[in-house]
Amino acid sequence: MNLTNREHQFVLKPLPEILADKRMMEIVFTNLLSNAFKYTIDREVAYVEVGYEQKEKKQVFYVKDNGVGFNMKYIDKVFGAFQRLHNDEKYGGSGIGLSIVQRVVNKHAGKIWAESEPGKGTTFYFYLNL
Ligand SMILES: Nc1ncnc2c1ncn2[C@@H]1O[C@H](COP(=O)(O)OP(=O)(O)OP(=O)(O)O)[C@@H](O)[C@H]1O
Ligand SMILES: [Mg+2]
Repeated sequence: MNLTNREHQFVLKPLPEILADKRMMEIVFTNLLSNAFKYTIDREVAYVEVGYEQKEKKQVFYVKDNGVGFNMKYIDKVFGAFQRLHNDEKYGGSGIGLSIVQRVVNKHAGKIWAESEPGKGTTFYFYLNL
């Protein structure tokens, strides 16, 4: 996998301080960001944005990319262990990342979901309940 030979635009919006397990949050962001950079491999300019929105009382974090996207009818597979929608060799992986992310979010009594469109990009959203 060569993730370097293209332009990257990475936008990190201001994020609030939260109460959560630090190492587990590292797992969440490492996996979501590595997916965002991986699935934008075909873009001339890879765009990845991290931010949050206040939705009623919930702080909803998101990781957004302009990558390959996927069909939302397969959304359940995306969170399943060892389930992958993109099997092309250029997107290496074992299909485990998001299942772990979901477990971390569940452990924090939160919720994770996604919006995606093939060819347009993907946004993963999550909030924690602490
Ligand atoms: N940002 C994204 N854009 C497009 N598809 C995605 C994105 N994130 C995840 N997916 C799809 O969901 C599947 C599951 O993601 P997950 O992170 O669990 O596994 P992986 O990235 O394939 O492998 P691993 O994370 O174990 O290295 C991916 O194989 C891919 O098909
Ligand atoms: Mg992954």
